[in-house]
Amino acid sequence: MPTDIAVTPGRLDRKAVLVTGGAHGIGAAIADRFVAEGADVLVADVAAGQEAGGRAVRCDVSVPEDVAAAVAEAEARFGGLDIMVNNAGLGSARDLVDLDDEEWARVIGVNLTGTFHGIRHAAPAIGRRGGGAILNMSSLAGGRALPGMGAYSAAKAGVEALTRTAAVELRGAGIRVNAIVPGLIGTAAAHGGAAVLARGLGVDDVGDYLDRRQGRWGRPDEVAEVAVHLVEDATAFTSGLLYAIDNGGSAS
Ligand SMILES: NC(=O)c1ccc[n+]([C@@H]2O[C@H](COP(=O)([O-])OP(=O)(O)OC[C@H]3O[C@@H](n4cnc5c(N)ncnc54)[C@H](O)[C@@H]3O)[C@@H](O)[C@H]2O)c1
Repeated sequence: MPTDIAVTPGRLDRKAVLVTGGAHGIGAAIADRFVAEGADVLVADVAAGQEAGGRAVRCDVSVPEDVAAAVAEAEARFGGLDIMVNNAGLGSARDLVDLDDEEWARVIGVNLTGTFHGIRHAAPAIGRRGGGAILNMSSLAGGRALPGMGAYSAAKAGVEALTRTAAVELRGAGIRVNAIVPGLIGTAAAHGGAAVLARGLGVDDVGDYLDRRQGRWGRPDEVAEVAVHLVEDATAFTSGLLYAIDNGGSAS
């Protein structure tokens, strides 16, 4: 097991950042790490007000007005917006023939439409600063069949398509757009959905998949490390990238 990641502060000095779904899990790790790197961070989450405290606003990313308001709040607090992290997401646990329209709409609405809202409302704000970065959150489900997770899989495939399109459309505005494609990261949500994940991955137990493909659970702070890399000025020529974080799981 690797030791904790050493932070060299300042890679995001004074960058104004909005992180959706930053109250828990990977989004919280990204928000914490960005603050440690010198960024001003506003979290936009349906769970805001509980864990995330004063740095968070309540926002349902599936509601366009909520996302527009969160972007406006970040601009008002920080004087602008440099970086948008579209991380909010949730899973599904039903085969396609058993999936009703309501669950389909909820999963697509948060994961895919929420990312679209984030791009649509953040890009003009980032453009007003002369450029910056957008980072989306896909999943290993975006590029493969995971039985029982069809809506989630379709949503994440859509996030990858949006990432490519936005990277090209926004290049002229100086905005680069990348996506992280995590394997299994040990958040409470992932542990809670382990049975569904195991079925989707075709194993009896998630531990079998970890043993064979990933070695171990990934950690949220390991995703946050890559998130810093993909939004910092040093990678200004990197756009349209789908960056897997899975210890070689998708390569094997
Ligand atoms: N943990 C993993 O193994 C894993 C793997 C691949 C991809 N991902 C993706 O990473 C992201 C974060 O996952 P996590 O494991 O940290 O999950 P999590 O459940 O711990 O955190 C998700 C956060 O999003 C928030 N959220 C949910 N619906 C929202 C909405 N409508 N509007 C705003 N916020 C909302 C939740 O309140 C929570 O704070 C998700 O997009 C997920 O699909 C996670």
